[in-house]
Amino acid sequence: MLAASGIYCSYGSADASIKVLRGADITIKVGEVVAVTGPSGSGKSTLLHALGLLERPDRGKVLVCDEDGWELSTRKRAELRNRKIGFVFQFHHLLEEFTLRENVMMPCLIAGESSEEAASKADRLLEKVGIIHRASHFPSRVSGGEKQRAAIARAIVMKPDIVLADEPTGNLDADTSVEVENLIMKLADEGSRSFLLATHSQDLASAVHRRFSLSSGVLSEVL
Ligand SMILES: Nc1ncnc2c1ncn2[C@@H]1O[C@H](COP(=O)(O)OP(=O)(O)OP(=O)(O)O)[C@@H](O)[C@H]1O
Ligand SMILES: [Mg+2]
Repeated sequence: MLAASGIYCSYGSADASIKVLRGADITIKVGEVVAVTGPSGSGKSTLLHALGLLERPDRGKVLVCDEDGWELSTRKRAELRNRKIGFVFQFHHLLEEFTLRENVMMPCLIAGESSEEAASKADRLLEKVGIIHRASHFPSRVSGGEKQRAAIARAIVMKPDIVLADEPTGNLDADTSVEVENLIMKLADEGSRSFLLATHSQDLASAVHRRFSLSSGVLSEVL
């Protein structure tokens, strides 16, 4: 599903660069839920952005469904990303000026689907994640957990093979975190869809199929 090898990432200029990842390797199989844990600043978001074909690593290979993402042209890479990968971002939340339904519709509209088709897909997913009653509310008028459910619905509306979720329970209270965790595990189970989660949450990390930890730029599997 997703296989990355020898990923190096750094920020800054050649003489004053911060080396964040030093040769990360990770493979995620179909239907697998994998967590990456590590202290703040250890590079979890950087890793997700490189694997998700959003930010080019200094070196390394990222295979998404057997296609070498960073070797493709910008247009082909964007196509591969849109078709295969869903994102739940750490800091980029929902678009505030749109309702939850419209937020979930957005990827479909961008892909050229009609608004009827997009709305019906969005409603089906809002139903699935348990917030259909909030479909016409704006993000500022719903709870943190409801926003996160909407972000997850938006991430899966294009039926991606893999979802990269950066701190999906980061800003939620304990009970709401558990609900969102359960939702993620359910979506993985029923959809033969893989998830890679960056998280501080020990609960979330212990619920997944496999775990990696990131420390001093080195990614290692926790066995
Ligand atoms: N755009 C950037 N420019 C310069 N340095 C950056 C940039 N983004 C991240 N960094 C640095 O890279 C390192 C890794 O950051 P990253 O955001 O990947 O960590 P993280 O593990 O996701 O942290 P958190 O748990 O706080 O989200 C940090 O030292 C950070 O300061
Ligand atoms: Mg982060």
